[in-house]
Amino acid sequence: MATIQLITSVPGPKSKELGARREAAIPRGLAHSTPIYVAKAEDAWLEDVDGNRYIDFAGGIGCVNVGHRRAPVVAAVRKQLDRYLHTCVQVTPYEDYVALAERMNRVTPGKFPKKTLFMNSGAEAVENAVKIARAHTGRAGIIAFEDAFHGRTLMTLALTSKTHPYKAGFAPFPGDIYRVPYAYCYRCSYSLKYPSCDLYCARHLEDTFKRVVASEDVAAVIAEPVLGEGGFVVPPPDYYRVLVDLCHKHGILFIADEVQSGFGRTGKLFASEHYGIEPDLMVTAKSLGGGLPLAAVTGRAEIMDAPGPGGLGGTFAGNPLSCAAALAVLDLLEKENLLARANQLGDRFQKRAREWQNRWPLIGDVRGLGGMQAIELVKSRDRREPAKEETKEVTEYCYQHGLITISAGSYGNVLRALVPLVMTDDQMDEGLAVLEAALTHVGEKKGVFAAQLT
Ligand SMILES: Cc1ncc(COP(=O)(O)O)c(C=O)c1O
Repeated sequence: MATIQLITSVPGPKSKELGARREAAIPRGLAHSTPIYVAKAEDAWLEDVDGNRYIDFAGGIGCVNVGHRRAPVVAAVRKQLDRYLHTCVQVTPYEDYVALAERMNRVTPGKFPKKTLFMNSGAEAVENAVKIARAHTGRAGIIAFEDAFHGRTLMTLALTSKTHPYKAGFAPFPGDIYRVPYAYCYRCSYSLKYPSCDLYCARHLEDTFKRVVASEDVAAVIAEPVLGEGGFVVPPPDYYRVLVDLCHKHGILFIADEVQSGFGRTGKLFASEHYGIEPDLMVTAKSLGGGLPLAAVTGRAEIMDAPGPGGLGGTFAGNPLSCAAALAVLDLLEKENLLARANQLGDRFQKRAREWQNRWPLIGDVRGLGGMQAIELVKSRDRREPAKEETKEVTEYCYQHGLITISAGSYGNVLRALVPLVMTDDQMDEGLAVLEAALTHVGEKKGVFAAQLT
């Protein structure tokens, strides 16, 4: 195992000073997972204002799949800087918006005619997907899942599941939102086991239409093909086929929220491809802009055209710098074969995590698709009691030793890896060594958790 260096000065004096200024100037509601202020970031690492270097397992929460400040992205933005910054696409449109929409229509699943609308953030794009679905179907209801995360605006909070810290105190939310259990096999809401469950959680939608909301009142079902904030939960391979067929049987649209799972994260351009589904509407954001704010709704042309002229838009939505960056991002994903790299990095993570799982009861579950990998920490294997405090301590140990990691999960007990897909094997191994040391440290501190499995 590599020697793990403690960065004794974390947070260093400059980060500490910025922390104090921040406390005075910025509301506490905007929390942050590390006390480090960044000075520079390239590829898969970043450096703080005190000169400390970190391997980045968070990637700005999955926004830099192609790496931090990749040269072709920076060059595309620089070129655009010399042309114009903002004209508003609703006043004087520009080619890159059109070219990017054409590209998104081509690369998203489904051979049918599509159209794409750009927005600034994932939440804004989800909001617009809901508007479009309602305009097309003339129905109001939206079905979302337990453990889902779709954003922090009021409509997307209504769709989001986790109460604290996201929803508590912010009610009332928009209505006509209905919630059903997700295919979270490790914590199955029905205490069933796959495959003998015969995908009861998906088929149960028929029951929801009888007991909760009539199918003819439902515009769309929205799901993250792989849960993001909810803990990187990967449903069984045949789950979405059953779910989407059920939606279509009742004239309900299926919206895939690929904000976190998109752009190569899972080893395919979109996680929906793993399941062989063609969503009616797909929402993307995060890594699309390669570090710049950009989000999209892509969908069947006739659905996307349901709202009338002027019904969709936003002053900065699809701004020229972000569109230029996104075109470079899509080129890079292709040229550098980053989907294959996602699988390699994911395999490396999972192999090591499975060794930990065999050694320590603290590791309840190891799961993921491609480069979207996670481990779920539990206080005991039998009861699966979430180990939230321990997870927090692991992430703290990591940043004190040169690794940026973030947690996830409705219980805050999942460690997730969203590594930039340009990470080298050496960087990955170094990061995993820190994570291993963190798990050992926390496990030993808590006594029983590090006990060898007998
Ligand atoms: C699946 C998913 N949908 C929507 C959002 C909201 O995106 P944004 O923070 O850009 O509004 C997120 C953000 O983490 C997400 O993971």
